[in-house]
Amino acid sequence: MTTWKDYLEISKYQNMGESLQRQGVPQPPLEKPCAAEAILIDLPDPHGITLPKMNLVELIEKRESLRVYQDEPLSLQEFSFLLWATQGVKEISKQFTKRTVPSAGARHPFETYILVNRVEGLKNGLYRYLALKHKLILVDDSVDISQKITEGCKMQKHVQNSALTFCWVADFQRMYWRYGERSLRYVMLDAGHVCQNLYLAAEAIHCGVCAIAAYDDDLMNAVLGVDGEAQFTAYIATLGRRA
Ligand SMILES: Cc1cc2nc3c(=O)[nH]c(=O)nc-3n(C[C@H](O)[C@H](O)[C@H](O)COP(=O)(O)O)c2cc1C
Repeated sequence: MTTWKDYLEISKYQNMGESLQRQGVPQPPLEKPCAAEAILIDLPDPHGITLPKMNLVELIEKRESLRVYQDEPLSLQEFSFLLWATQGVKEISKQFTKRTVPSAGARHPFETYILVNRVEGLKNGLYRYLALKHKLILVDDSVDISQKITEGCKMQKHVQNSALTFCWVADFQRMYWRYGERSLRYVMLDAGHVCQNLYLAAEAIHCGVCAIAAYDDDLMNAVLGVDGEAQFTAYIATLGRRA
């Protein structure tokens, strides 16, 4: 069994070896492709939101993990704002994207899956955010999807009670292509930035977030439809309105 000490050793900067990029291997796509027949769901312009006046210091001061939410749904405008705040694309080129969060080497290794329990005008279900187009696709609208994700999160009640639960899946090759064995460190560091933006953006719309790392990896990967190696659940966060 590889221990954390082994991992720290093999992932040292000087042990990275020659990257796939250096070896001339083509770069993986910037986003997981979706089926040609997939129905794309439009989202409002995230900049169209009217935010209450609050400065950054207040937002940082107010931030805390919230696990109890009001029943009031979120608007699609608010949902769009949260997606933009966590993974929104500001600049796109063939090789990279620049987004609202930093990422090692601008690799941006995440796909965002969102369990929607309460958003006005949106059917409940599991969606995937297409950051490059700022659109959504419906992944799973089976009646027990919320229950399955709650089970995947070891029955933490705030999943089932959330308006939204964000599940960030790492598409490992995007990072591995440049950083080899050091990539897992960078993926996990990147995940922290994404979730922190969610915490702060949520405060700006009078919502609260709770980060989740206590989840069953195999169950979560299965319910999100990823293989747990090339793509794996890296971080989860629930969100809902504050009382
Ligand atoms: C990496 C990480 C994993 C966490 N996992 C969970 C979790 O699985 N369930 C939970 O209820 N809270 C979880 N939390 C929330 C922490 O318990 C919380 O941040 C901590 O108690 C400090 O409280 P605060 O966020 O209100 O400052 C997690 C937080 C982090 C940063």
